[in-house]
Amino acid sequence: MRVAIIGTGYVGLTTGVCLAFIGHSVTCLDTDESKIRALREGHIPIYEPYLEEVLEEARPNLSFTSSYAEAIPDADVVFIAVGTPPTPSGAPNLEYLSQAARSIGQNGNGNFTVVVNKSTVPIGSGNWVGSLLRDAVEQSSNGHKTDFAVASNPEFLREGTALHDSLYPDRIVIGADEPRALETLYTLYRPILDQTFPAPVFLPRPDNFAAVPLVSTDLASAELIKYAANAFLALKISFINEIGLVAERVGANITEVARGIGLDSRIGSRFLSAGLGWGGSCFGKDTAALIATAGEYGLHMPIVEAARTVNSRQRDRVVEKLLQELKILKGRTIGLLGLAFKPNTDDLREAPAIEIAQKLIDRGVRVKAHDPIASERFQREHGKMGVCLCPTAEEVADGCDALVLVTEWSDYRELEWEQLAKRMRNPFILDGRHALDGDKLVRSGLRYVTIS
Ligand code: UGA
Repeated sequence: MRVAIIGTGYVGLTTGVCLAFIGHSVTCLDTDESKIRALREGHIPIYEPYLEEVLEEARPNLSFTSSYAEAIPDADVVFIAVGTPPTPSGAPNLEYLSQAARSIGQNGNGNFTVVVNKSTVPIGSGNWVGSLLRDAVEQSSNGHKTDFAVASNPEFLREGTALHDSLYPDRIVIGADEPRALETLYTLYRPILDQTFPAPVFLPRPDNFAAVPLVSTDLASAELIKYAANAFLALKISFINEIGLVAERVGANITEVARGIGLDSRIGSRFLSAGLGWGGSCFGKDTAALIATAGEYGLHMPIVEAARTVNSRQRDRVVEKLLQELKILKGRTIGLLGLAFKPNTDDLREAPAIEIAQKLIDRGVRVKAHDPIASERFQREHGKMGVCLCPTAEEVADGCDALVLVTEWSDYRELEWEQLAKRMRNPFILDGRHALDGDKLVRSGLRYVTIS
């Protein structure tokens, strides 16, 4: 099938590359011409494991453009995967979405086209995009009265494992009020639903991975599924962090508590890692948007609100722990290991490291930091904060009064901790992710403390 993808961020680019990989002819469009130039030359603007490799294999089926007139007319399916950044009220900014819908409507060639909301958009956006398309078709000067149907196909990929999650998803959700939209998307996704595509050698199909469940539903339900899924994952993390607080007071081990409850198949063991809490562009934005949508109907969401409160409290607990250890923070040097909001990405949106660094700087601390991938982006986007970026974790440790493990990059597990301890003024480490081997660190001469 012929596919156009509007937006080349994490979601758009991964979706485009995967659909091209399974054999569709895909045009990725971005209004940022410099991004398109870079992609044509083979430069990928984001760090995402295996994206480059899959893109190379899919290249014969892929093209890049900034022109709607080039991407839209021949497309059977158009995905809208533009940014929907949060506004101060919590509701997402839908400016890019509306621009995309209008431009699609103006550039149809008269054939039936399915327009799919892939961005996380407020409930009701499917209807709204439909009305924007109809208006644009009415006003279009090319004389074509394209027949559009709108669908919602929420994205569940995680940054850092985006390619794996797209090729081997837990489920595919398609919301459409018109059966022909559903049929088109069913055909599009069939190789993934039936797992008939040859798996890339570097991303083998997981053992015993068979057909992928399809959830076909109406537009509003698909839109709500996305918000409910992210809200549930967010509150699972906040739940374990709240239990972590009690665990700390009663002398229990939160990692063992999480394992003990997670083995109950009704609960499940994933997303029960206690620590600094969630970051990233999704959980904060989507929980705020869900609360805002409910508010429009006069509804409160106390559970989702509490999840947000607990999450922000986890960042304060870092400062509390450092105060307990060092008593005075002013004039201290503290090193952060990891800046990205999670390992295997260079994404810094809502990264706990930024909030923690700012809290420490406000208290007169000199902050040093290292990240294996995200330092360059940090310098570009947050250079003004005054964090001293170091090329290695060892250099971060030099003269530090404390280290905080913020992002659990696997490299940090392998550090020569004995050497690091010797380089510190005060060999103390706060493991914000329960990621390190505490006994080993203690044997290496560090005082080892966790959050919870
Ligand atoms: C999240 C969802 O997991 C995806 O399903 C969804 O598609 C995506 O949002 C989205 O809406 O676009 P993502 O934000 O990329 O994906 O990353 P996650 O792996 O979910 O991690 C989010 C944050 O939670 C990270 O800061 C991570 O460190 C933290 N986390 C995760 C914990 O603190 N504890 C855990 O047990 C798991």
